[in-house]
Amino acid sequence: MHKPTRFKNMKLKIAVLPGDGIGPEICQQGVNVVKAIASRFGHEISFEYAICGADAIDKVGNPFPEETFQTCMRADAVLFAAIGDPRYDNDPTAKVRPEQGLLAMRKQLGLFANIRPIETFPALIHKSPLKDDIVRGADFICIRELTGGMYFGEKHEDNERAYDTNVYTRPEIERILKVGYDYALRRRRHLTVVDKANILASSRLWRKVAQQMAKDYPDVNTDFMYVDNASMRMIQEPRFFDVIVTENTFGDILTDEASCITGSMGLLPSASTGEHTPVFEPIHGSWPQAKGQNIANPLAQILSVAMLFEYFGLNDEGLLIRQAVNASLEANVRTPEIQVPGGAHYGTREVGEWIVDYINKAV
Ligand code: IPM
Ligand code: MN
Repeated sequence: MHKPTRFKNMKLKIAVLPGDGIGPEICQQGVNVVKAIASRFGHEISFEYAICGADAIDKVGNPFPEETFQTCMRADAVLFAAIGDPRYDNDPTAKVRPEQGLLAMRKQLGLFANIRPIETFPALIHKSPLKDDIVRGADFICIRELTGGMYFGEKHEDNERAYDTNVYTRPEIERILKVGYDYALRRRRHLTVVDKANILASSRLWRKVAQQMAKDYPDVNTDFMYVDNASMRMIQEPRFFDVIVTENTFGDILTDEASCITGSMGLLPSASTGEHTPVFEPIHGSWPQAKGQNIANPLAQILSVAMLFEYFGLNDEGLLIRQAVNASLEANVRTPEIQVPGGAHYGTREVGEWIVDYINKAV
């Protein structure tokens, strides 16, 4: 059982952005976990809620309103849930889209580094589409550049011709590689730079910069992989990877693939950090079909709370949350999509309550 080594009285202001779909339900469980940890460890944590996504389009016509931005700027951390609404998915003519809120948040908060840890959970290995002996023990981190590339480069769109520009500058590449090296130094010292340098000029600049930087990190084994090869390697030999660093679009695609091979998409958190307030959020989306049904898995959101505490050096707090999550899985306190055959029914709320209870009782 976990024994806290110290009680620090930390004051934290958290901006809470529940967003769309299952966002509000899972976010509520995340907030409950923050509160349980706060009282368990003696921290003073305040919350300020703000709107975003389709919810904010409905209310004020803007998926990331200025007021939400200001709330984020005032906070020490943002707990974010999900954005997205099917009303916009099949309507390419929509003028405002919920996803623009997410991009605005990333850009305005300068969140250039998206950290997505890919972990396997022994209790869920059977859910992986890969064979047990290939996926067991896979444990790597994808570091995705989040404020550059095609997502933000110059665009053009008319009925006959359209393009997106994949621009990167040397400082943008250097700062994200630095994040990659910092992680690699704390882990197994293996950094894989994923690009498409055989085709793309932007990738060749990435590779040039990375080759130069690698000299400053002689203790890290730096290798390079084309993105098509990396996507294959990820399913053939996921344990090969330790830290992956890559550009925005490749990172988007590879992290979806990575989250799925562990069989635990509903369990993977992420952190986006950069120039201003960091944001902690689940990797999965807003799952609109499940909205309000109390069936969505709150664990990715709860683990993003663990990442939040760890960001502030509160590792005991993070560890206790991780232990609670593992204990819930072991006890088969699981939402339907990962429940074992014959296992009891637990909803979003019930899983959250079980975890809060575990935290309250931990000695
Ligand atoms: C993600 C999502 C977003 C992205 C969408 C919702 C804009 O897929 O965070 O990976 O493409 O970055
Ligand atoms: Mn994505």
